[in-house]
Amino acid sequence: MTTSRAHAVSVGEPMDRVDGPLKVTGGARYSAEIPTANIAHAVIVQSTVATGRVVSIAAAEAERMPGVLTVMTPRNAPRLPAQQPNPPARRVLTLLQDDVVRYNGQPIALVVADTLEQATDAAHRVHVAYASTPPLIAMDAARGRRYQPTASMGRTPDSAIGDVAAGLASADVRIENTYTTPIENHNPMEPHATIAMWDGDHLTVYDATQYVIGDRDTVAKTLDVLPENVHLLSYFIGGGFGCKGSVWSHVPLAAMAARVVGRPVKLVLTRRQMFGPVGARPLTEQRIALGARRDGTLTAIRHESTSHTSRFEDFLEPAAMQSRMLYASPNIATAHRLVKLDLGTPTFQRAPGEATGTFALESAMDELAVALGMDPVALRLKNYAETDPENGLPWSSKSLRECYRMAGDRFGWANRNRQPGGLRDGDVLIGHGMATAVYPTNRGKASAIARLSVDGAGSVRGLVQTASQDIGTGTYTVMTQVAADALGLPVDRVRFELGDSRMPPSPVSGGSQTAASTGSAVHVVCTALRQRLAELAVGDDDSPLHLVAPDDVRAAGGRLYVASDPSRGETYEAVLRRHPDQALVATMDAAPGEEKKQYSMYAFGAVYAEVRVDRELGEIRVARVTATYGAGRILNHKTALSQLHGGIVWGIGMALEEETLVDTRTGRYINADLAEYHVPVNADVGTLDVTFIDEDDPHVNPIGVKGIGEVGITGVAAAVANAVYNATGVRVRDLPITLDKVLVATRA
Ligand code: MOS
Repeated sequence: MTTSRAHAVSVGEPMDRVDGPLKVTGGARYSAEIPTANIAHAVIVQSTVATGRVVSIAAAEAERMPGVLTVMTPRNAPRLPAQQPNPPARRVLTLLQDDVVRYNGQPIALVVADTLEQATDAAHRVHVAYASTPPLIAMDAARGRRYQPTASMGRTPDSAIGDVAAGLASADVRIENTYTTPIENHNPMEPHATIAMWDGDHLTVYDATQYVIGDRDTVAKTLDVLPENVHLLSYFIGGGFGCKGSVWSHVPLAAMAARVVGRPVKLVLTRRQMFGPVGARPLTEQRIALGARRDGTLTAIRHESTSHTSRFEDFLEPAAMQSRMLYASPNIATAHRLVKLDLGTPTFQRAPGEATGTFALESAMDELAVALGMDPVALRLKNYAETDPENGLPWSSKSLRECYRMAGDRFGWANRNRQPGGLRDGDVLIGHGMATAVYPTNRGKASAIARLSVDGAGSVRGLVQTASQDIGTGTYTVMTQVAADALGLPVDRVRFELGDSRMPPSPVSGGSQTAASTGSAVHVVCTALRQRLAELAVGDDDSPLHLVAPDDVRAAGGRLYVASDPSRGETYEAVLRRHPDQALVATMDAAPGEEKKQYSMYAFGAVYAEVRVDRELGEIRVARVTATYGAGRILNHKTALSQLHGGIVWGIGMALEEETLVDTRTGRYINADLAEYHVPVNADVGTLDVTFIDEDDPHVNPIGVKGIGEVGITGVAAAVANAVYNATGVRVRDLPITLDKVLVATRA
């Protein structure tokens, strides 16, 4: 039995967000907004040095201040069991168990008071003395201490096929350069926020998280509580982008404080506290060598990336991974190295690896095209990978050729400026550049529960639940669509719920995998429920479908019917009325199988950018970006477009604005607020034109989706950098491309 495509299929439709009305009316409650009686407020005191030890903490003055309930320090904080690895990535937390300082901004005390103002005031009166030595913050000083990390997300840090040295030696044209990207902070609109409350041994936590189940498990392990005694809730999340994919110190600290004061405790990080203790994209230095024959055929690709991590934990930005698979070449070598700095541990940020890695690789490809005197698109087509160069596997689907063509046509690439500095509009230099976008298709095991029941008005409704997250991406909406189609119900008769650890588990909303993972579970369980309903009907002599073969039964709009004769059928209500005792409820898992051993799975895209650079001022404006993506089935063309627009906007920020500045003497963040840490505003974003190539990919997962949360940022910084070169003749290999880096040359 299959759902008739002729009837009201909602998947793909640009449906409005089901949570839209709640969001625009303020009815959507984020974790810090959950009404909680008798709540106390916690404020973290952070270290002001980056290394050494806390020698003393004078808390007496703060403790005497009005409303202050406790000042939690390493002296009086509850003792915790030794830490264990935390899913999905090990994160070493600092939970007031010792006096060691590992980075500037580390939590060293927690003030809890009746009001936020009292706690904030008292936190300033906690006097701390340190014994500290100068930190190692600057990459220049650390470069000599590179080391090879262990595997990153199951992949080896180094790779080699063929003989890169021989490939470079035999090349007609070679380029070799270093590209650098700075530390970048996530800055979701909603900061990290936690409410924790105890009822005996039971802990309830409202938390801003990308991973409800992982958060619950980490909190339970950290505090030595049974997971079933921790109830973790996260209904609405104001952006994650990776920083909410791990549990950071403030979450267990809130629970510890709630235990100490015997009241619910709310702990919301300030914007400034979002810089340091909750991860960032690490800085990268990427060395790329490319060799090619005169006709553009790549004879070698070498990509070596160094990124920073903390002293106490390895986090790798896997920036060279995409260079293993993006272009065909007999000789490809990649390597990843780490250096330890006295900073907090970095973490995943939107397209970790691909965002930074495509800046380097796609800039290098542009430089090679210039060196060859070749069109940059033609160079990429010349080296188009028909199979995955890393492992020889076929692609599950790949529409990159069509992406180059469609976006190129829409952009007008054929009429582009071909001569750096050759196109002017008064004092403005106009440039055109392009790059390839790529992101792997990921999937994890997920489960969901679905229920069909008759409401008070006598209509059959579906309720579907899983402990997933909607980090602003549209999970509530697209899962409602997937469930409605599989149940054969209109979307307004389906309710989809998430964000509660007592629901069946779903994986982390990271790696762009939620639609693929959770969507597959929703699809499978709802399909099973619809089939059970059909079996009830065909087995029932009172049904017009009696003895029809189940495969010939169709379902749509809350009605079952015969494929060959749609007039023969009955409503779900009619079936359930005759079977009131039938529990139409099911819980099912959906997990990836062996498909990744048979196919290589990626979303691809092509990005074209036009920039306008002021000759006198060096000011760079992105006038327009045109991009086309092949990302499997698009579940909702409206929310999908928002994801790609958001990714491209972030790419523009990465290209021109974003840079976390750290004082190398102290390890202190210099621009830790949204006034000084620049992200694009509307005036920074020109016209965006995003389209999709429809892909019917039967291999990736049961619903054919590849994920779209991250591919949008990839390639954008390179497309902008390549356009800046085309406009000015200045090649900037160091992000962000600020006006000082192009000014001297454009004025010459
Ligand atoms: Mo995304 S950086 O995998 O949350």
